[in-house]
Amino acid sequence: MVAVTRTAAELRAALAEFPGASRGLVPTMGALHSGHGSLVELARAHNDVVVVSVFVNPLQFEDLGDCEDYREYPRDLEEDVEFLRGLGADVVFAPAVAEMYPDGAPQIWVRTGSMGQRLEGASRPGHFDGVATVVAKLFQLTRPDRAYFGQKDAQQVAVIERMVADLDFDVEVVPAPIVRAPDGLAESSRNQRLSPEDRRRALALSRALFTLRDRVADGADPDVAGVRAELAAAEGVTLDYLEVVDPGTLAPLADDSLTRPLQRPALALVAAQVGPVRLIDNLRLTPRTRR
Ligand code: PAF
Repeated sequence: MVAVTRTAAELRAALAEFPGASRGLVPTMGALHSGHGSLVELARAHNDVVVVSVFVNPLQFEDLGDCEDYREYPRDLEEDVEFLRGLGADVVFAPAVAEMYPDGAPQIWVRTGSMGQRLEGASRPGHFDGVATVVAKLFQLTRPDRAYFGQKDAQQVAVIERMVADLDFDVEVVPAPIVRAPDGLAESSRNQRLSPEDRRRALALSRALFTLRDRVADGADPDVAGVRAELAAAEGVTLDYLEVVDPGTLAPLADDSLTRPLQRPALALVAAQVGPVRLIDNLRLTPRTRR
């Protein structure tokens, strides 16, 4: 049975039913699909109690939610609860905005600094501050032992891992691996909007990442500039960025370290428009270990 809670008090009461149990949190904005399902399954396998939050957080949208994207965001709690019941979640926390932000947008936010301003943050000012702020609140409200996020949103994972380290949250952040189609395309609900032709063109993104991964694993220099130029020239692909960054800080690696074999693991991230869809993908680059 899944307990559906709408307030902090109801959530506390539901959690009190499981004294001493280990707790996994899957934060979501609802409109749940199989990607969320794999996070819930992972949480189910690791924890006694699985809590799923369903909250469309206005702070991480343009103009603090005063925008079409926020208003039009799909919301169907009943359907989400049905989906979660099938996956064996124990508690759903689906607060109203007034429950989370009773005085309107909070005065005190988590500031993600340059980590939140680059890459995806460059086109969405304030987005990662909004994400970090709501996740901090959700951690306080649910007190999880572990929290689950999709690695597909690598910048979100890195920001939250950093918040946990910098602000001493007592929670383990568990990134769930990217699910890929056999041809390499990262699974995303947006892929449904790709025509067969665009879907084929979209493979250029994962191909670029695989090239970087293989070069680094072979002990060659990553040749990011060359791979970037090839991707930028790919038919039907409008490249936003292809970057190789430090996985802990998301700071770009110095130019000179990209023209020699990498000495430390790095993260390659890509974003591009293909047909009607903006796609993102990422891959960890692990240098060959010296014998
Ligand atoms: O990834 C999401 O769905 C959201 O950014 C999150 C983590 C639930 C915070 O609102």
